[in-house]
Amino acid sequence: MSTADYQEKIPNNVGLADDRRLQRALESWQPGFRDWWAEMGPELPTEDVYLRTAVNVGREGWAHFGHVPVSEYRWGVFLADPRQDRRIAFGEHKGEPAWQKVPGEYRSALQRLIVIQGDTEPASVEQQRRLGYTAPSLYDLRNLFQVNVEEGRHLWAMVYLLHAFFGREGREEAGELLRRNSGSEDSPRILGAFNEETPDWLSFFMFTYFTDRDGKYQLGTLKESGFDPLSRTCEFMLKEEAHHMFVGTTGVDRVVGRTARLMVEHDTDDAGPHGAIPLNVIQKYLNFHYSVSLDLFGGETSTNVANYFSAGLKGRWQEERRKDDHLLIDRGAYVDAVEDGEPARVEVEALTALNTDLRDEYIADCESGVKRWNRILAEAGLPHRLALPHRAFNRYVGAFAGINASPSGEVLTDDEWEAHKGAWLPTDTDKTFVASLMHPVYEPGKIASWLEPPRNGINGKPFDYEYVHFL
Ligand SMILES: [Fe+2]
Ligand SMILES: [Fe+2]
Repeated sequence: MSTADYQEKIPNNVGLADDRRLQRALESWQPGFRDWWAEMGPELPTEDVYLRTAVNVGREGWAHFGHVPVSEYRWGVFLADPRQDRRIAFGEHKGEPAWQKVPGEYRSALQRLIVIQGDTEPASVEQQRRLGYTAPSLYDLRNLFQVNVEEGRHLWAMVYLLHAFFGREGREEAGELLRRNSGSEDSPRILGAFNEETPDWLSFFMFTYFTDRDGKYQLGTLKESGFDPLSRTCEFMLKEEAHHMFVGTTGVDRVVGRTARLMVEHDTDDAGPHGAIPLNVIQKYLNFHYSVSLDLFGGETSTNVANYFSAGLKGRWQEERRKDDHLLIDRGAYVDAVEDGEPARVEVEALTALNTDLRDEYIADCESGVKRWNRILAEAGLPHRLALPHRAFNRYVGAFAGINASPSGEVLTDDEWEAHKGAWLPTDTDKTFVASLMHPVYEPGKIASWLEPPRNGINGKPFDYEYVHFL
């Protein structure tokens, strides 16, 4: 197991102490990061928060838990341990040793991939920066800050790669990552979903379930990269990402659980008057976050992505477990399309279909969330069910951007869409209602009316633990 030098200004396991030039570059980026955090990070003032801090990368004891002032969180640079004699698993370089340096011919493509991933990390912190004011419990407030500081660390992870391997251009891009801001008119974040607001906690749980999960799949493809430092960085990020998924999954569990309980208790379809979120509003939020997250995977076919694959820069989800030649030459695959005005699947060259391949993996994973939420409804004795909308629903990227589709996949005229969309996507009335439930609950052991308490606390602590101290 590699050891992290935790006494350093920038905790790391990449040997920063031995690389003065790199250390100076990162130290010169750090003040800008701190300014950005102060300006765009969590707004709610706190004294300290019970946070997990990455201190190592091994299987055992990679994280330390303790109360720390959020602004003094120790953002560090950690790569998963190297794999002895790691070989590239796919594409033209399959079987060759993984690269420890950037191959000149792939420099700009790799840099682009890292910048796009890096841009999403601080974006979500920006989107979530006011949520602390309405946290439904101290436990949830702590989880929000945990997600935020780790997204900050993911930014560090990408900035490390840019500084260490991409020279002056890399340093410039690292600066740009702090200059673009979510929702900004002049310099927005690169990807659409990261410029949407996260105005309330139902959105936050849906975001961490659906949109962070897109991140998990993107990281999964970069973890396969022939560029070994990128692969090892992403492998470690995925470990932290698992907690973000957990926050989303169990967050929605608890919302659905509360709604179901009140529906049964009051024998009604509308839990709204009883202080919970009506099931149809939960469904609309789900529809929205799922559909904007599907757009993040890009068009159905992409020659860029085919080239990334052939070059060994970006693999498929669980590339090494796939039972094929890992080259995909002269193979076919089915992708989404519109034929005769209707959603359809058409066959294309497998190499160009990799966005669809990844989106399909993601969709299958999302189904598992819906299954578990429906189990909660079934166990409450309710006949109601949640569902993922059709993949053509509410899409602005790819083949389905050209049609209007209902959640069941029925194609609609513009007028029909306008007339019905309020039944499928959150309306202003829905958002105002959800916002009206968002009152902060900062007393240990207490919780807001619209969700159940968690089954367990964090790191063996009880739910009523003082996860956050206020000034
Ligand atoms: Fe992240
Ligand atoms: Fe995340």
